[in-house]
Amino acid sequence: MKKYLLIMLLFSSMAFAQKLDGKKVFETYCWGCHHQTAMAFGPPFNEIAKKRNKSEIMAYIISPKSMYKKFAYKRSVMTQLNLSNDELDAIADYVLAQKGK
Ligand code: HEC
Repeated sequence: MKKYLLIMLLFSSMAFAQKLDGKKVFETYCWGCHHQTAMAFGPPFNEIAKKRNKSEIMAYIISPKSMYKKFAYKRSVMTQLNLSNDELDAIADYVLAQKGK
């Protein structure tokens, strides 16, 4: 039983260490168009964090073309990026972490 617990612990700490860094995902894919708190080509992340939840943010990244009307944009300019699930999770948390900044 003890051994089993130890293995579980080891695995969970490994999973934690492997969680992607949202800042890196941001710098790789979003930085050209979004900044954390300043208006760029796209809206700043702190503004987005105020009005959207995690699943809305992920949905927008997965498919801007099918979400922009729902989000009250007249046109859809954001490019469709193909992020992995881990990248999506990390970047959505990163956007939300800008709330109140
Ligand atoms: C080519 C420029 C571009 C890139 C790259 C880009 N965006 Fe956007 N994004 C925009 C623009 C412009 C909008 C405003 C709506 C539109 O035109 O689609 C937007 C809108 C959004 C919205 C919805 C805003 C709202 O009102 O809630 C989210 C969320 C978002 N972007 C997140 C991201 C994230 C995260 C990344 C990186 C993984 C990213 N975007 C990459 C240009 C971009």
